[in-house]
Amino acid sequence: MNHFASHKGELYAEGVPLADIASRYGTPAYVYSKKALSEHFLAYEQALSGHSHLVCYAVKANSNLAVLKLLADLGAGFDIVSAGELKRVLTVGGSADKTVFSGVGKRADEIEYALKAGIHCFNVESKGELEQIQRIARNLNTTAAISLRINPDVDALTHPYISTGLKENKFGIDIDTAFTVYQQAAALPNVKIIGIDCHIGSQLTEIEPFLDALDRALALVGKLTEIGINVEHLDLGGGLGVRYRDETPPPIKDYIAAVLEKLQERNLTLIVEPGRSITANAGILLTRVEYIKNNGDKNFVVVDAAMNDMIRPTLYDAWLNIEPVHSEANQLEEVCDIVGPVCETGDFLGKDRRLAVKQGDLLCVHSAGAYGFTMSSNYNTRPRAAEIMVDETTIHLVRERETIDSLMRGEHTLPETP
Ligand code: LLP
Repeated sequence: MNHFASHKGELYAEGVPLADIASRYGTPAYVYSKKALSEHFLAYEQALSGHSHLVCYAVKANSNLAVLKLLADLGAGFDIVSAGELKRVLTVGGSADKTVFSGVGKRADEIEYALKAGIHCFNVESKGELEQIQRIARNLNTTAAISLRINPDVDALTHPYISTGLKENKFGIDIDTAFTVYQQAAALPNVKIIGIDCHIGSQLTEIEPFLDALDRALALVGKLTEIGINVEHLDLGGGLGVRYRDETPPPIKDYIAAVLEKLQERNLTLIVEPGRSITANAGILLTRVEYIKNNGDKNFVVVDAAMNDMIRPTLYDAWLNIEPVHSEANQLEEVCDIVGPVCETGDFLGKDRRLAVKQGDLLCVHSAGAYGFTMSSNYNTRPRAAEIMVDETTIHLVRERETIDSLMRGEHTLPETP
């Protein structure tokens, strides 16, 4: 269900007019729907009920504490890629023992922090990392639970920047080498093998690549069992796509049903690490039109959100639906580019859109709940946006807008020379 819908020409977040949020907290602002977040997460839980499982929400998609707390309270585990993300999870009372640690470049201090916190598993991405984990676990006189992230060499058929399961990508351990690395891991005294892991990419709109990767992982599980290495879980990563425009990704329940069918009669816990499919369509970016300008044959709508707030159109050529918060019938639409104030030609949120807008109007950028705020920056010394979560008719400010002073905190000029 869409929780950012129009009633009588006014866009709402659940039961709150977006215009009310803008007048209270200003723009640009990210607005999340509590109901949408819960529904998306629970769709995974429902589809997986009856099979041993763990849904580890990928924190990188949206790491706001209110989002994490909501999901933790619903029983989510977490997929983290840094000590910072782990700290966020622990801060909201998330369970370390339901947390998996992914990423190609885990630093020694991060491994130590995660081991001390008691995380469920390290998704190990290289032999060097395996040895580093062994060393740190031995020093702490403990055992580290690990799985190997295999690179199954499957084409996820997605944007090259978010495809991760091909040999040419930096991620995971090549599936042929993984068998040997598992044997090496089995011989390490402070490491305990508990799983196998893969993540082939993001915004996948077909089930087949997932099933191909799963087949390859299961074949490896079979080979490992033959030599006495038993894994308890299979982690299929995240990656399920969402509808931004006209994509038709499978519904969560169909995707999970297809995966479970292949796992029948296997005594394997299924871990999934969804990010985008939980948060993307549970959030929007609210922005105000500063100026309308025309350069000969091109119309520009200059808004107060920019590539520093939402970089996906610039970085991936992503298409996000943009619509006026207030619309009137029979208004004259014009083709325009929606651009921000940042000094880069690549600073746009949408190109060649038909919109009827004037100075001062509010615009809603849809599907902005994943990889929106988390990828935002302070480029051009722009304070990052406020974040708001709506719960039915209540507006909660879940992150204050940054102040310019806060951006300069920690910076120092050189001492005066006499
Ligand atoms: N697990 C691992 C190991 C990952 O690397 C990722 C995403 C996920 C889970 C979650 O994937 P999701 O379910 O969200 O597709 N910034 C890009 C997406 C980068 C995804 C990186 N890894 C974008 O805005 O499209």
